[in-house]
Amino acid sequence: MIDVTHAPPASCSAGTATAEVASGTIVRHERIAEGTWRLRVLAPNLAATTRPGQFAMVRLPGRFDPLLARPLAVYETALQADGGPPGPGEAAAARYADFIYAVHGKFTQALSRVAVGESVEFWGPLGNGFAPHPAGHLLLVAGGIGQTALLALGKERLGIARYGGPGVAAARADRVTLLWGCRTGSLFGDVEDFRDAGIDVHLATLDGSVGRKGTVVDLLDAFADGSAGPEASGERSVRIACCGPEGMMAAVSTWAARHGVPCEVSLETPMACGVGICFSCVAPVRDASGGWD
Ligand SMILES: Cc1cc2nc3c(=O)[nH]c(=O)nc-3n(C[C@H](O)[C@H](O)[C@H](O)COP(=O)(O)OP(=O)(O)OC[C@H]3O[C@@H](n4cnc5c(N)ncnc54)[C@H](O)[C@@H]3O)c2cc1C
Ligand code: FES
Repeated sequence: MIDVTHAPPASCSAGTATAEVASGTIVRHERIAEGTWRLRVLAPNLAATTRPGQFAMVRLPGRFDPLLARPLAVYETALQADGGPPGPGEAAAARYADFIYAVHGKFTQALSRVAVGESVEFWGPLGNGFAPHPAGHLLLVAGGIGQTALLALGKERLGIARYGGPGVAAARADRVTLLWGCRTGSLFGDVEDFRDAGIDVHLATLDGSVGRKGTVVDLLDAFADGSAGPEASGERSVRIACCGPEGMMAAVSTWAARHGVPCEVSLETPMACGVGICFSCVAPVRDASGGWD
């Protein structure tokens, strides 16, 4: 089974009534890896209501090039400007939202030059987020900057953090593993966030500079044949949650289907409106009858 997190039919369809437009002061902004920055913004409503896998549309105030806001996943939330994430009972009190972004074009270049004390505009939380499926062993599979959609999910499933406010269903997993692939080792940033959460981390790089030489599919193969660890193979109720470039997610979905592992992917097609109106981000989805929606 392949679920699609932000679809159907529009991958950005507004997933919650709590989304709002706001402006927030940047309280932290630092480079964490090659061409990769981490931003913390005062965003009380977004931080208190976002669920794992959701995102916000972000833009710079007073700047009209680019005109359109850009989508960024909410990586983590925090109680205080210089503090850590909320505990299991404190989701509603989170006041800050963290984003991690890779510098690509006009928006992300301009964002990387914005200083602490300045502000950004954003609307969210948007998207459907990951479905609350329980799992014996949840595999988080990330490609490139795709880890940004996955940290909160892993922490929630391990029961060490809650997101989305009181009363939001949170499924559990007995064990969470991150399989993360990048082009080269200098692109991995804040890997310790996953390790500190109790998530087992396996890295791969195309150039072999860090971890296994190859892709996340090589890591999945190692997982399946038992070479990723003594407990890795032969487990029941394994699930995959995946985020990364489209080709990588297609390869992971194909691997999952071949091995009979349920797989949920978080689509990151380029977006214009972010709320399901313009249809610029739609992805074809297989329906229950085997046809395409
Ligand atoms: C739901 C969602 C969540 C996202 N979360 C994050 C995140 O947490 N961190 C992060 O770094 N990025 C994330 N992205 C991607 C991010 O939105 C783009 O990198 C950003 O829009 C680039 O803006 P720009 O103006 O800097 O570059 P642009 O000038 O818009 O683009 C630069 C280059 O990147 C390509 N590009 C732009 N957007 C995408 C995309 N979505 N997929 C593939 N190629 C693209 C363009 O075609 C162009 O070649 C997310 C995208 C989506 C849809
Ligand atoms: S419908 Fe998804 S970006 Fe507009």
